[in-house]
Amino acid sequence: MNTIYLDHAASTPLRPEVKAYMLELMDASYANPSSTHSAGRKAKAILEASRKSIAKNMHCLAAEISFCSGGTEGDNTAINLALRDLGVKRVITSPIEHHAVLHAAETWCKAFKAELVLLDVDAKGRIDYQQLEKLLQDQSKSTLVSLMHGNNEIGNINDLSKIGHLCRSNNAYFHSDTVQTVGHFPLNLGELPIDFATASAHKFHGPKGVGFLYINRRLKVDAFIKGGSQERGLRGGTESIVQIGAMAKALEMASAEMTAEKQHILNLKQHFWKGLKALFPQAYVNGLGLVEEESLYTVLNVSLPELATDSMLLFNLDLKGLAVSGGSACSSGSLQQSHVISSLNPNHSDPVIRFSFSALSTETEIKRALEILAELSV
Ligand SMILES: Cc1ncc(COP(=O)(O)O)c(C=O)c1O
Repeated sequence: MNTIYLDHAASTPLRPEVKAYMLELMDASYANPSSTHSAGRKAKAILEASRKSIAKNMHCLAAEISFCSGGTEGDNTAINLALRDLGVKRVITSPIEHHAVLHAAETWCKAFKAELVLLDVDAKGRIDYQQLEKLLQDQSKSTLVSLMHGNNEIGNINDLSKIGHLCRSNNAYFHSDTVQTVGHFPLNLGELPIDFATASAHKFHGPKGVGFLYINRRLKVDAFIKGGSQERGLRGGTESIVQIGAMAKALEMASAEMTAEKQHILNLKQHFWKGLKALFPQAYVNGLGLVEEESLYTVLNVSLPELATDSMLLFNLDLKGLAVSGGSACSSGSLQQSHVISSLNPNHSDPVIRFSFSALSTETEIKRALEILAELSV
């Protein structure tokens, strides 16, 4: 039985070309990139070419890209550095951020005795820009705003330009978790008023365990992992050229194919929603998943009142060959309501499924997924 995989917001499979390049790099980059001999210099050249390629696709300077282990590390680091090195005494974020931001903000604010403010969100998961502006007008405490670009559970998109301008005009720093949008949306970090941005390769058909943190060149920050002088002294530790090279390749491919792939995925998502609604007329979308300009085209989060609330739902779907998520992958396996869904509606009790698609998803898979779901409706 072939599994129909509709959980791409949790992780995406490697593109075959990325996998082939990783195999090539395993032989080509065995040496330590800090070594001065020719084998080391070869590894270093691949490292720096990867950084340049990523910077080109993100429209920023290569020196603004620091490699790290992924979204969680990038988010933690941005928040930590703002509190430790930039004198931030207040962090403003939202209750529907990924736990990599929420838990990091809770922990680091406590450690640095800073205030933590959570913005309100409405029943559709929209943040309140006016509330943010009002809070920012109080400049008595140096502030970091950490708001994600695309929400991994419900798909809502925040307006980074608007948030960034609000931050700049009120002397606040701005971090965005762009894990769900890098490789899927054109991002111009050179033009956006932004200080930190986080990315993770496994969300755009690259390998797991590697990502990057954009740190705006105007910021003066110190090492976030003490050790050797790798990553211009910011993050000690021998770089994994295989993973970093593969991430650069995955981002190059995602950037080159973005427009065509977006259309393909959007079509699949729309067909899927039509089919789902025909099967379950009471189905409704959580968040802004049906508003094209305000949501990730890769994510559709639905509640299905026709189904009994059943802790075995995802397990049963998996047995039938359909892999999906109930909330964020990081919290699946636990029966707790997703913190995102309960922020939209604390009394939400209908079963929730997050379907998420990628360029590798096919029309045949969508059809089969609907057949599997139809078996639940009888
Ligand atoms: C929005 C968002 N932020 C952060 C992360 C964490 O990324 P990583 O798995 O690379 O640590 C994820 C992954 O699920 C995510 O979706």
